[in-house]
Amino acid sequence: MDEKNRIETLSGIKIFTGNSNRALVEKVCDYLSIPLGNATVKRFPDGEIDVKVEEDVRGADIFIIQPTCPPVNDSLTELLILIDCFKRASSARITAVLPYYGYARKDRKDEGRVPITAKLVANLITKAGADRLLTMDLHAAQIQGFFDIPVDHLLAFPVISDYYRKKDLSDFVVVSPDVGGIKIARLYSNHLHMRLAVVDKRRYGPEEIEVGFVIGDVEGRNAIIIDDLIATGGSICQAAKVLKEKGAKDIYVAATHPVLCGTAAEKLNEAPIKEIAVTDTIPLSEDVKKSLGSKIKVLSVSSLLGEAIKRIHTNTSISSMFTEQ
Ligand code: R5P
Repeated sequence: MDEKNRIETLSGIKIFTGNSNRALVEKVCDYLSIPLGNATVKRFPDGEIDVKVEEDVRGADIFIIQPTCPPVNDSLTELLILIDCFKRASSARITAVLPYYGYARKDRKDEGRVPITAKLVANLITKAGADRLLTMDLHAAQIQGFFDIPVDHLLAFPVISDYYRKKDLSDFVVVSPDVGGIKIARLYSNHLHMRLAVVDKRRYGPEEIEVGFVIGDVEGRNAIIIDDLIATGGSICQAAKVLKEKGAKDIYVAATHPVLCGTAAEKLNEAPIKEIAVTDTIPLSEDVKKSLGSKIKVLSVSSLLGEAIKRIHTNTSISSMFTEQ
């Protein structure tokens, strides 16, 4: 498709956001060569969220890009209010774009009297009026099934694997920090032609983790631990420690979503980790940037998101973005 046709096809598309990650949204708009939609998302004096869309959106194909990252409840509520606003303004279609889907870890009843908050969030997004969901590296892929609207689930894999492919990585092993991450770690190991190892992690609470043994040979090899997110840093730091104990050399970490809450940055600094690569689905706080300095590299997923948005708008395949690698 030539440039003129592309711009004509994209003419009905509009991108909006709240306050959770404006820098990422601006990059997505740059990729699509369209301006960011004009909306004010501010606070009433009592803290309630006040939204006003400042341009005509009747009949438009709306994409609201809003990762539901910390402050999670504010980010989520802004998203829900924005969806409601566009529905009432007669937009033709609303796609909720959550580069990071918060509350994803509460995805099942693993004990009595607990909620399934990932499903509640799916209900809220759908009920508010979203017609589609676009998201990335869900904590569990089956969260897609919590929605009865179309869901496009992207992987940050092309961006992260490309980063490592450009480095000279001889004698490396890809490590999944838990059994649940084997499928995605295998994708990296196949693509980067590296062996695979798995850490046996057991979680007893949000901050209580026990790491036992390592399946696979890591002795004398450098390791890349692949995870979907780093929150408290507990899982990654414990995995790095046990890999060192088993004789691994340099340890690299790649995680899509840098939640990095509490003392995560301090823990990561103290851990035997050479470098941490994350993406910009979640902005890093100034404190985290200062604390981790050059130990953390941020890779942008803006072109992946922009390309997916373009393909949704033009009804073209998204899965081929991952098979064309
Ligand atoms: C767990 O299954 C996830 O993939 C992450 O490993 C985990 O949620 C990270 O949390 P934290 O950094 O708090 O250990």
